[in-house]
Amino acid sequence: MWSSRLMFIMAAAGSAVGLGNIWRFPYIAGENGGGAFVLVYLGCIFLIGVPIMASEILLGRAGRQSPINAMRDLVAHSNANPLWQAIGWMGALAGFMILSFYAVIAGWAMSYLFQMGSGAFTGADAAQATTAFDALTDDVGAVVGWHTLFMAMTIAIAARGVGAGLESTVKILMPALFFLLVVLVIYSAVTSGKFTAGLSFLFSFNIEKLTWNGVLMAMGQAFFTLSLGMGAIMAYGAYMPKDTSIISTAATIALLDTVVALMSGMVIFPLVFANGLETAEGPGLMFVTLPLAFGQMTGGAFFGAVFFLLVTFAAITSSISLVEPAIAWLIERLKTTRTKAALVVGGLAWLMGLGSAFSFNVWEDLHFVNGMTFFDLMDYVSNNILLPLGGVLIALFAGWGIDQQITRDQLAVSPGVYQIWRFVTRFIAPTAVFLVFLLAFF
Ligand code: PFF
Repeated sequence: MWSSRLMFIMAAAGSAVGLGNIWRFPYIAGENGGGAFVLVYLGCIFLIGVPIMASEILLGRAGRQSPINAMRDLVAHSNANPLWQAIGWMGALAGFMILSFYAVIAGWAMSYLFQMGSGAFTGADAAQATTAFDALTDDVGAVVGWHTLFMAMTIAIAARGVGAGLESTVKILMPALFFLLVVLVIYSAVTSGKFTAGLSFLFSFNIEKLTWNGVLMAMGQAFFTLSLGMGAIMAYGAYMPKDTSIISTAATIALLDTVVALMSGMVIFPLVFANGLETAEGPGLMFVTLPLAFGQMTGGAFFGAVFFLLVTFAAITSSISLVEPAIAWLIERLKTTRTKAALVVGGLAWLMGLGSAFSFNVWEDLHFVNGMTFFDLMDYVSNNILLPLGGVLIALFAGWGIDQQITRDQLAVSPGVYQIWRFVTRFIAPTAVFLVFLLAFF
């Protein structure tokens, strides 16, 4: 059991807040034209994300074991169709695919930690920052090395189990990350001279810039950033105290997560405009903009190193939740040890991650569907297809499949709130997701 409600929030927020907020949100928003994308993203977070997160927590808490086995027991208890168990399997697969590229990007952040600390970016301009990023991603050895180190750390921590260690880590590091982001927002606001341009990019509603694929990306980002649709939150829900309110906890986590993402955007876009960079820079966006800020700030080498250290920790508290569903299942299924399970899951994800590591250098010109590199493909399939699909199945199961009494007991809210939750999970969320799939793909 988590020691308290606060600790569950910390762990779930530790899973939610990660590279998705600081690295992925700004670059995906930038590629999709800003404002309108952000609005769709916010809509998805609060209208679809929060009710689905509540569903995931409730299934986890009702099942009290790994998502795959929790699903099996809930299905049996509710006399539901065994096909619902696919939720557990698909989730483990999605987590595994996400971890494979997540470790590569987290590896970049670790490399930046040291580059920052060594003062490599002191006084750097946009051209130097771009060159430094290209130099890192071109260096296969370095990228694979950092990827390996990050994966090893994830395996080592996951092998010990999510417990006291995670709680105390998150309790200290999350507020520290938040504090540094506040400092960066203030820095961007005061010194860039382009703060309003940045804000207007993020918040002005330019519907012309948004495509149906952009809407799909906004939805995928909402699932990714909240760690939804693959059982991570379900796995943590298994440890949540019985008397804690699920819906208000889900809303709190979503709010925290959103604030961090928006703050990252408010740091990055003013820097983009002030330095003549491209909003559609791609996965390198945070890595070429933030060094500019730290490079000019007094004490920037120190603060920059601390910042990337915190990003690395934020990534680790997310990556251990990515492996948790698969590990918990292996332990139960094969009666194996946690260490062995962590090694198998992490090892396979490491191997697949090589494909993403190569996508920025030796496999740069290797394109799969629609000009996507291996990394693009992993990211696209897991975030834009598997997570929303998993999320909808979770919603449908919580709304239709499971014994209704379980959801009523678990949520323990007023009849009005319960009806709203039920209507959203039964009708609104599934319809919205399928409509977006339909419009984006056809
Ligand atoms: N939510 C994490 C982030 O924003 O970085 C990524 C993530 C973690 C996605 C766990 C999915 C998940 F199950």
